Amino acid sequence: MIGRLNHVAIVVPDLAAASAVYRDTLGANVSAVQTLPEHGVHVVFVELPNTKIELLEAIDAASPIGKFLQRNPAGGMHHVCYEVADILAARDTLQAKGAKVLGDGTPRIGAHGKPVLFLSPKDFCGTLVELEQV
Ligand code: CO
Repeated sequence: MIGRLNHVAIVVPDLAAASAVYRDTLGANVSAVQTLPEHGVHVVFVELPNTKIELLEAIDAASPIGKFLQRNPAGGMHHVCYEVADILAARDTLQAKGAKVLGDGTPRIGAHGKPVLFLSPKDFCGTLVELEQV
């Protein structure tokens, strides 16, 4: 059911500093900053030849990413995003297999303008999984 790895997301305490690490130290292309109020984040995308890295900074300490940073002050890996062809079919299949879809199960529009859902880390090896319809 899942297809390509769309991106790996890393939470960072300082988006400008993290962007500089990827651009200047690692020599990658880093996008302009996008702010996504409905997700509580500022985000940049690091474009790699085979996938992307999403660097996430919290809009405020009360957001989910802000809470993640309180537990992981240096930042850390937050989620992996797999592509699916049909997000509603994927959701229904996963729920039928007993997996927990976070929120009310309705896809939201993610940072790429495509529908996304998140799956509980409890069901997926301790890792938060995002599904994106492509
Ligand atoms: Co993501």
